[in-house]
Amino acid sequence: MRNAVRPVSREEILRQEEVARQIAARPDRPRSYHLITYGCQMNAHDTQTMAGILESMGMDAALTREDADLILFNTCCIRDNAERRAMGNIIFTKEIKKQRPRLLVGVCGCMAQQEGFQQRLNTRYPHVDFSFGPGEIYQLPQRLLDAMEGRREAAFRAGEDSTLYEGLPVLRSSPFFAYLTVMYGCDNFCSYCVVPLVRGRERSRALPHIVAEAEALVRDGVQEIMLLGQNVNSYGTDSDGPRFHELLRALQDTGIRRLRFMTSNPKDLSDELIAEMARNPAICPQLHLPAQSGSDAMLRAMNRKYTREWYLGRVRALRAALPQIGLTTDLIVAFPGESGDDFAKTLSLVEEVRFDSAFTFIYSPRGGTAAARLPGRVDPGVASERLARLNALQEGITAQVLSAQVGRRAQVLAEGSARRGSGQLTGKTERGIACNFPGTTDQVGQILPVTITAQGHNTLKGQQILPD
Ligand code: 5AD
Ligand code: SF4
Repeated sequence: MRNAVRPVSREEILRQEEVARQIAARPDRPRSYHLITYGCQMNAHDTQTMAGILESMGMDAALTREDADLILFNTCCIRDNAERRAMGNIIFTKEIKKQRPRLLVGVCGCMAQQEGFQQRLNTRYPHVDFSFGPGEIYQLPQRLLDAMEGRREAAFRAGEDSTLYEGLPVLRSSPFFAYLTVMYGCDNFCSYCVVPLVRGRERSRALPHIVAEAEALVRDGVQEIMLLGQNVNSYGTDSDGPRFHELLRALQDTGIRRLRFMTSNPKDLSDELIAEMARNPAICPQLHLPAQSGSDAMLRAMNRKYTREWYLGRVRALRAALPQIGLTTDLIVAFPGESGDDFAKTLSLVEEVRFDSAFTFIYSPRGGTAAARLPGRVDPGVASERLARLNALQEGITAQVLSAQVGRRAQVLAEGSARRGSGQLTGKTERGIACNFPGTTDQVGQILPVTITAQGHNTLKGQQILPD
């Protein structure tokens, strides 16, 4: 049963709800919370779930950590700098606690799932009150109660990473946009990546559960859903269930207006999925397709299981099926052994594909991963220089992509006012590019047709037009 989804049992959820009620009834309960999130959309989604749980205990969000009775860090360990930033801020809460001894401090997320981390936190940082991993979010009420009642060992207990939660309250940041997790974990073991070590093996959620959640979101007025998973393209392969393109087809029937999904691994991007993207009117013409490198030698060392040619072939197939598709990517420079020639191949891949935008990273060695043991570390000065060259190239391409949008029509989901009192609304085009345009606040939440009139820095400007 290694791969089966094991949702938290109904009894366990009821037990946690009972603990939440106990906390809500206590006069010494924290009244306000401040959640600090690092990392990816998965973490952003987990934060919304934790906010939902905390609000169910009668707490309100505090704007700053200085105003909060409870500070909760949702951490990320994908690169060293994310980890160091979180650790610096966690340590700093000791100073806030000197002024306000009743402050409660919690640490959760991927750092808390690393071997021995919770133990170290418990012994070395007495000002931290409790900690739990991403698989134990549903236990938040119990951990909080343990911390409030001084049961330190229980408040730091390392749990099993395989328990999943479904059906917990979620406090969405927008009434019109929602995240929906379709699978947890990752089986790919890219040699640089710590995710399979902290988020566990791939586990797909059952299709009827996902569809029911989407139906509830649509009933609630949600217009756009972002499906989440470390590798959504292998949805269903762990349980021999329906595949990702079949899930997308089922989701169209919920009446959702817009669907996006991330992240897609190029090796699993099937022809069936591309055909479904072209056929299904709810799917936005946008895809995040991490390439990581343009060099076959580096892709092999990264254990990515595809070649540059395969990647370019997938891009050609996508563009043949969806000529207006916007592609974004992730790229790593200075992977161990990356020569000047290997790096030049990443630059040429970027020139060839012409991404809308790219997230670029300097390789960061992570304990427990295969790449951490590889020889051939690239000099940090060379690494920074490569990153700067790559960013400069991509910035030029992004500007050209935006400028090519000028004069075109787009459908923008108005998410809110660009700035208060500006008379401008802001939202994303179907291609996923931010767009500002004149409009009124009563139009927020609608998908509006615009003509693109100009480009800004990473954004577009538009004017509303009459619907076709
Ligand atoms: N060093 C640098 N970048 C990394 N990523 C993942 N692990 C590392 C690492 N050890 C990047 C990859 C991935 C994105 C989420 O983070 O590009 O796609
Ligand atoms: Fe990490 Fe690779 Fe899995 Fe993405 S596909 S989470 S980079 S191991």
